[in-house]
Amino acid sequence: KKIIAIIGARPQFIKHYPIDKSAKGTIDLITIHTGQHYDQEMSQIFFDELGMSHPNYQLSVGKGGHGAQTGKMLENIEEILINEKPHGIIVYGDTNSTLAGALAAAKLHIPIAHIEAGVRSYNKHLPEEVNRLLTDHLTSLFFIPTEKARIDLSKEGITQDIYEFGDIMKEVLDDVIEKGLVNSNIADENFYYTTIHRPYNTDDCETLKKLLNSLNTLNKKIVFAIHPRTEGRMAEYGLQKTNYKNISFIKPQSYIDNLNYINASSGVITDSGGIQKEAYWLKKKCITIRTETEWVETLENNWNILSSSDFSTLSKALEVQPGNYKELYNISETSKNIIKKINDKF
Ligand code: UD1
Repeated sequence: KKIIAIIGARPQFIKHYPIDKSAKGTIDLITIHTGQHYDQEMSQIFFDELGMSHPNYQLSVGKGGHGAQTGKMLENIEEILINEKPHGIIVYGDTNSTLAGALAAAKLHIPIAHIEAGVRSYNKHLPEEVNRLLTDHLTSLFFIPTEKARIDLSKEGITQDIYEFGDIMKEVLDDVIEKGLVNSNIADENFYYTTIHRPYNTDDCETLKKLLNSLNTLNKKIVFAIHPRTEGRMAEYGLQKTNYKNISFIKPQSYIDNLNYINASSGVITDSGGIQKEAYWLKKKCITIRTETEWVETLENNWNILSSSDFSTLSKALEVQPGNYKELYNISETSKNIIKKINDKF
């Protein structure tokens, strides 16, 4: 079978790694990289570090508003799908690249497999929620990471072809842990590890300023791996890194270095979806700067706490000690099962 996978943003390169590996010798997998993320440390580094095949098609949609970015992808992906005539496509998660891929395929009547289907935050102000909701309503094969996803899909009338083979990100994590790559080569310096990139935390000067001020006043050092969106906004708003003495700003990290930072830290402060789960699996306390999360299971026993950027709320959340730990999202051979199902069904 000929299957096209569409990737474009940082977490998708990571999710694609086990699929790329398990596809070998089973299906003919062609990869389109939309170019949504294009900096070396947002893209190429993951292919090099994980030893992944290079994309067969490299688009370069780059910067732009949601409409312009998604529109450019749609046009380019459509052309490739018409030429390649695949039996189906694979999309991952909730980015503009996910939606563009799904939309292009649906209009050409090419079936779609969605990995990380059924995830919901129930906040349509988030671009990710719009992307995943629309993608799921075009999808034929749903690969869900949690039982909650099955319940949420059923509320939208989707009850068929739903498969719970585990969380693909857990498979990647297990793979690098097995290879001995998560070994805390970063000394424990008693710091909080931070990543922030969601538009609602970054795209308003006062909001971003308040968050940075809170981080700067916490009782522990902050190591902040800064996403290009956040870096761009800080520059635009005239917020100088040197004014935040408690924060050490570092470039976006590779997959393995990011895990090592999480692992060596006293806790994580983030608005990322993936890092909430990675912190959980590495048994690190996580504070999520959001009003809701898709990964509600991580909130149990206070391993993950939702917080505003307000200093007192944030510092209080950091004081809470997590309770019992329960294994989550933990099913093996996720990618092999996904490939097998796609091969059978498409
Ligand atoms: C996207 C996804 C989000 C995911 C995140 C992971 C959408 C709507 N959002 O958000 O779900 O969690 O990726 O990182 O698809 N930029 C660079 N260099 C790069 C990449 C981006 O400078 O390599 C700039 C862009 O030009 C843009 C900004 O950063 O100005 C934001 O990039 P964008 O593609 O809008 O999405 P993310 O915020 O990264």
